Amino acid sequence: MPDKIKIALAGFGNVASTLAKGLEFYKNSEEGLWHPRIGGLTLNDIMISAVYDIDATKVGKSIGDVAGSDASSPGIIIQPGIISDAVPSHISQNGQARTESYEDFVNSLKSSKPDFFLNLISSGLDKTSGMYCSAALEAGCSFFNATSARTVTDEVRKSFEAKGQVILGDDLMSQFGGTAFHRGMIDFMISRGIRIQKAYQLDVGGNQDTKNTMVEDIRERKRNIKTESIAIESPYPFRSAAGTTEYAEQLGDSRVSYYWMEAKGFLGSPVEMDLSLRTKDSTNGCNVIVDALRAARYLLSKNDLDGMDVVSAYAFKNPARKMHIRDCIKSFEDSFAS
Ligand SMILES: NC(=O)c1ccc[n+]([C@@H]2O[C@H](COP(=O)([O-])OP(=O)(O)OC[C@H]3O[C@@H](n4cnc5c(N)ncnc54)[C@H](O)[C@@H]3O)[C@@H](O)[C@H]2O)c1
Repeated sequence: MPDKIKIALAGFGNVASTLAKGLEFYKNSEEGLWHPRIGGLTLNDIMISAVYDIDATKVGKSIGDVAGSDASSPGIIIQPGIISDAVPSHISQNGQARTESYEDFVNSLKSSKPDFFLNLISSGLDKTSGMYCSAALEAGCSFFNATSARTVTDEVRKSFEAKGQVILGDDLMSQFGGTAFHRGMIDFMISRGIRIQKAYQLDVGGNQDTKNTMVEDIRERKRNIKTESIAIESPYPFRSAAGTTEYAEQLGDSRVSYYWMEAKGFLGSPVEMDLSLRTKDSTNGCNVIVDALRAARYLLSKNDLDGMDVVSAYAFKNPARKMHIRDCIKSFEDSFAS
């Protein structure tokens, strides 16, 4: 029986609280799980060891209270995190709670002995994400970056690997979100010999993260990551744009992606596609998170750090080594799900 995979979380928002609820729910069920077993591990093998936030209305409360229902490890109390960016207005409104110093934070992280430290903080806090990455390295755990901040560089990766730790990232790719679906559509059109000419994907969402993404430079960076992630599927360039386009509070945690594609077939005959996909943001990321954590743990136990490229290509929009979506799912399942 392997030891549990202990995880510490930075940011107890939508995704983290849904993950905590999922870890509780999947103690007794497999319904809705993409891969019940990865590397021989189930969700019962994952436990939360510490949680950090800076929102004063959350710090000091138990994760069960904040998640609003039975969350995994309900006794875990949310501790103050660190921040080195300007604080977004919605967090300022609630007041902030911070750890005294970076050193105190590293010591706190060390004391819960996590295997992985997951960065699930608000979009746009790139300096803070960098500090959390350094803190993971110092505290002796691996780092998982769900945010769009650029944390995985060759140098950082080597620093983690030199200590027998790994870094996974950047920017979580949801199981069936706008980017994965867009990539799958392009892959299918190309495999059927259809020549794509132009495409766009416009995303509208109603949760806090979408609201944060409306800041122009965050929106621009996310648009670039999504557009580049999608481009990998086509052997030739075509005009395309993909990104979060609007915040509409009435959508709540839902996200609607509108797709338009123009392509050509035999004798240049037109193929035009116009469709929309509606999903829930928070749940959409969780299967990917629990899969990547178990796969990474499996590889670490075999000391096979090269295999991490497949895990990052499967789980993130901006990995160090990009792979076609069909290939990374196949490699991932061949390596871990059999
Ligand atoms: N499917 C998805 O939902 C998905 C997909 C891709 C990427 N992501 C990324 O994952 C991250 C989390 O998404 P979310 O929907 O849970 O966001 P959210 O806005 O609901 O939650 C973010 C949480 O982080 C906290 N926070 C802010 N600064 C912090 C700091 N310095 N230290 C600790 N906590 C801090 C906030 O108080 C909040 O509780 C975002 O960056 C998002 O872009 C999510």
